[in-house]
Amino acid sequence: MDTRTGNRIGLEPLDAPLGALVTGVDLRRPPGEEDVPVIEEALERFGVLIMRGQDITPRQQVAFCEAFGELDLPPRVEDRLDGEANIFVIGNPDDKAVVFAPDTGQEAEPPWPDLEWHADQSQYPVPTWISMMYGVSVPPDGGDTLFACTYSAYEALDEPTRRRYDEVTLLHSITGINDYLRQLGKTGTISEAELGREHEEPQRWPLVRTHPRSGRKALYFGARVSVGAVGLDAVQGRRLIREVTELASRPEFVYRHRWRGGDAVLWDNRRVVHAATSFDTARYRRVIHRTTVRENTPIR
Ligand SMILES: [Fe+2]
Repeated sequence: MDTRTGNRIGLEPLDAPLGALVTGVDLRRPPGEEDVPVIEEALERFGVLIMRGQDITPRQQVAFCEAFGELDLPPRVEDRLDGEANIFVIGNPDDKAVVFAPDTGQEAEPPWPDLEWHADQSQYPVPTWISMMYGVSVPPDGGDTLFACTYSAYEALDEPTRRRYDEVTLLHSITGINDYLRQLGKTGTISEAELGREHEEPQRWPLVRTHPRSGRKALYFGARVSVGAVGLDAVQGRRLIREVTELASRPEFVYRHRWRGGDAVLWDNRRVVHAATSFDTARYRRVIHRTTVRENTPIR
């Protein structure tokens, strides 16, 4: 189905629970004024937008994303691309690896409740609205990105659970990610600056947030970055976060993106959570350039 929007942008829904293939967008140029609302609407509608066959410089990636709002600086200086500080370099471009997936290979088949599902930067006072990842160099297998539709996960809840979730406030903290990385033996990916942030107050966000564009409700959580819930003890909080993760990562809500070089993938963190799968870091090189646009509306 081609749902052409009237100008040159084409949107073809994927054969998946979320996502659309976008044609007619050349990321080497910033979007035109008329294209920005079309892309924003498509992000809300499909959750994930895939633009294949792109060939962009870091500067062009930044310029394209800046059309949607203010960009983040990656918190760790060593993750910033030289000369284009808004770009977060993910993967193993050199001896260090920025990989947020277990090395077990267990994610080959669903279900995937053990992956590090999250919405970007929910541990910070201003989380991410739109993320874009651009595949500079990708392995022939592994290193996939899974996306889950948190609208659908919320809508699948029975009425009592929905009412219960509607009242929950989750605590989001860098400590959750750092504990997870230590568990995986990836302590090299934690910087002194991040460790310093462990003393910061956790952010409090509703588990159920309302998308400002559609008014639809979506689950907002991170499997590891959510470290507890207001009013629940540690055990109850962990149990709830696990329950939410198991629900949202069910295969019927998930699109698995298998990367090709030149892929650009954008997603709406207001209604999608995502997770990385592992790859053979000794054998393959994976370099992804990520840019993130800051949330510009209150989370509620
Ligand atoms: Fe992420």
